[in-house]
Amino acid sequence: MLNSKVAQLLNEQITKELYSAYLYLDFSVFYEAQGLDGYANWYMIQAQEERDHAMLFMKYLQMCGEKVSLGAIDKPDKVLNTLMDPLVAGLEHEQYVTSLINDIYAAAYDVKDFRTMQFLDWFVKEQLEEEKNADDLIKKMELFGGDSKGLYSLDAEYAARIYTAPSLVLD
Ligand code: FEO
Repeated sequence: MLNSKVAQLLNEQITKELYSAYLYLDFSVFYEAQGLDGYANWYMIQAQEERDHAMLFMKYLQMCGEKVSLGAIDKPDKVLNTLMDPLVAGLEHEQYVTSLINDIYAAAYDVKDFRTMQFLDWFVKEQLEEEKNADDLIKKMELFGGDSKGLYSLDAEYAARIYTAPSLVLD
């Protein structure tokens, strides 16, 4: 049995990760409508990764014999006008997700729940990559996105992104 606060935060994280997937799906829809299929692809794959994250939290709770309780997923509410808007919102969102992972980690630490801390280690590392990727998207748009050839090249680069399943496997 998990500590009730840790179990509650893990449950809530399922919904938060699904919201992340929904948010990135919204970004993908925005870029597709702009004719930027590469950016749309990048965020479509990002949405798939977030769904994977949600499944990992769900699976971990199930393995611990805990009740899984799914909450409502909010409507994506970021205002998207410019090509930069989703990128900035994406970095802010990943920073927020990092704070959520840290909060669960702190709750597990408080009750010496080393098993949950070890499970979360993968997410701590993943968040570093997520924030770095989000920051790179902004920097490249700032450097090259202002010119049509540069934007075309960036879009082609992001079109090449392929989905890979998470390296963390829970059986
Ligand atoms: Fe599930 Fe983008 O972190």
